[in-house]
Amino acid sequence: MKIAIASDHAGFEAKQQLIRYLTEKGCDVTDFGTNSNESCDYPDFAVKCADSVADKSNDYGILICGTGIGMSICANKVKGIRCANCSEEFSTQMTREHNDANILALGARVITVDKMKKLIDIFLNTPFSNQENHIRRINKITQTENLY
Ligand code: RB5
Repeated sequence: MKIAIASDHAGFEAKQQLIRYLTEKGCDVTDFGTNSNESCDYPDFAVKCADSVADKSNDYGILICGTGIGMSICANKVKGIRCANCSEEFSTQMTREHNDANILALGARVITVDKMKKLIDIFLNTPFSNQENHIRRINKITQTENLY
């Protein structure tokens, strides 16, 4: 599985641990930065990661900032991206089953790295339900996206 990952300074330490975790699980991980704890702007990294998921260079993306919020807002501006900011298991499972989310945003100042690993496992192992009602709703998201 090909995974794109990126963070800002607030998520940098967590990102480094998650890259190791994912690589050990056999994922092919591409790191879009940032590369240190030095203060930076999350949109610079979110867009690079999201672009690589939107153009199918990667299967899924993982974004980490302080709350996960800035990263998710930014990623959701990219056409074809459905990014969910999750901090617990149920929403993480639902966003795959119902929303077919392709990027998971996580908050390094909200949850621990151990919790992130659990959520990532759920996200990567839960298939989209493929149910007609959910397909219809996702198509409406895409139609809305295409208006702008
Ligand atoms: C950086 O201080 C912080 O604002 C950022 O990591 C993120 O939480 C924004 O949503």
